[in-house]
Amino acid sequence: MSAKKNFHMSPDEFRQHGKAVVDWIADYYEQVESYPVLSQVKPGKIRESLPAEPPLQGENFEAIFKDVDRLIMPGVTHWQSPNFFAYFPANASGPSILGDLLSSGLGVQGMLWSTSPACTELETHVLDWLVDMLALPTKFKSDSTGGGVIQDSASSAALCALLAAREQATDFESNDKGCEGRLIVYVSTQTHSSLEKAIKIAGMGQANLRSIAVDENFAMRPDELARQIQQDRQNGLIPCFVCATVGTTSSNAMDPLPEIGRICRDEKIWFHVDSAMSGTAALCPEYRYLNDGVELADSYCFNPHKWMFVNFDCDCLYVANRAILIKTLSILPEYLRNQATESGAVIDYRDWQIPLGRRFRSLKLWFVIRYYGIEGLQHHIRYHIEMAQNFVKWIEEADDFELVAPAPLNLICFRHQRGNAFNQQLLERLNQSGNLYLTHTVFNGEYTLRLSIGQTHTEEHHVAQAWQQIQETVADLEKKL
Ligand SMILES: Cc1ncc(COP(=O)(O)O)c(C=O)c1O
Repeated sequence: MSAKKNFHMSPDEFRQHGKAVVDWIADYYEQVESYPVLSQVKPGKIRESLPAEPPLQGENFEAIFKDVDRLIMPGVTHWQSPNFFAYFPANASGPSILGDLLSSGLGVQGMLWSTSPACTELETHVLDWLVDMLALPTKFKSDSTGGGVIQDSASSAALCALLAAREQATDFESNDKGCEGRLIVYVSTQTHSSLEKAIKIAGMGQANLRSIAVDENFAMRPDELARQIQQDRQNGLIPCFVCATVGTTSSNAMDPLPEIGRICRDEKIWFHVDSAMSGTAALCPEYRYLNDGVELADSYCFNPHKWMFVNFDCDCLYVANRAILIKTLSILPEYLRNQATESGAVIDYRDWQIPLGRRFRSLKLWFVIRYYGIEGLQHHIRYHIEMAQNFVKWIEEADDFELVAPAPLNLICFRHQRGNAFNQQLLERLNQSGNLYLTHTVFNGEYTLRLSIGQTHTEEHHVAQAWQQIQETVADLEKKL
């Protein structure tokens, strides 16, 4: 075999194909509204069109790339469409995509400071910036007792916080001997399901999860939390962790952080705040009241990959006491030993997360913050909220629709008065049209439509069109009654 033979893409070929891919992405953003927002393919359709066997011989890049349009695009749901109003935003932006591309290009593994100092130090720096940008407590900064770290998701952030809480509550014995089954975790009935998953993974047992009742606005009831904690203590159990949410997934409910935080402080329970989507609103001073009480938190997370124009994945987790998190997750095998780590002068983020390896995710965050500036980010967040509040007014003014939950920011939960089956049909019809995409939730047995505004290029006319189409579809359905 010739030593010189290789199958790699040369730098010149990469340059040529890379330009074509970047052009394709730019075209995609220009044409994204021409696709049905929700992919219309039937299950199995995409796989059917793919060859059964992998290729023995390599193919040229043009042929591979052509198949993206032909085989892949029909099965794509267009999260970046301005008419995407489903779930929650997962908005992307030019600077973020380019930052991510650069991260792929550098191919850095940032598990240790020494495996790429810039990867660690940029992350620490940008996460410190964000503490100031969101007016979070300074204890979350790296020059204090705490610090921030980028996780892949809010789910991982919650898991890391929960593990640290478990170790704190058992004086690090659970890591040693396994979990002893008396540790209790408190969430509300509206908390994201990632907490339930975290409890399973942490070995704490789903039976030890308490779902605290919510009030009429779907926010956790602190009196119920306090009562449940007392009851658990009387039964010889160990309250260990409370998760409060700023902006729940279903309805954007705001748990009362000050009251919950005070209970946690008095009871010496780890207090985690999940602000996955809504945390970004605190970029604007007028929404910082939502974070009142976060000064009592032991950990806090929000997802720039939801609403801050940073494409997936990028969750920022902050802890007030990094020593507990590091002691919980740190393992130092011989093959990772190095002088910088031994000196204690550097951060090794592998000790702040579940996996060992990590990508250079801070590049995209840095690019976005610098490209938009605080002013640009505030401008777009305010615009999203303004559009959502206009929609709220339309619902309030309509005789046949009602708001189902308060809409403090960019998520509106609403329903038509004709009942569950009608609302379900309405949603299916809207989504089948391909012109927009909404999802649903259920509150107290009532089928509810959710309209979430936060895509990068959503403008007033998109929201107005959505409202018009909702009304037209209602009229159409009513004709058939
Ligand atoms: C409040 C809340 N927490 C956590 C999550 C989970 O986010 P991730 O996909 O980053 O794990 C979501 C996503 O919907 C959310 O809305």
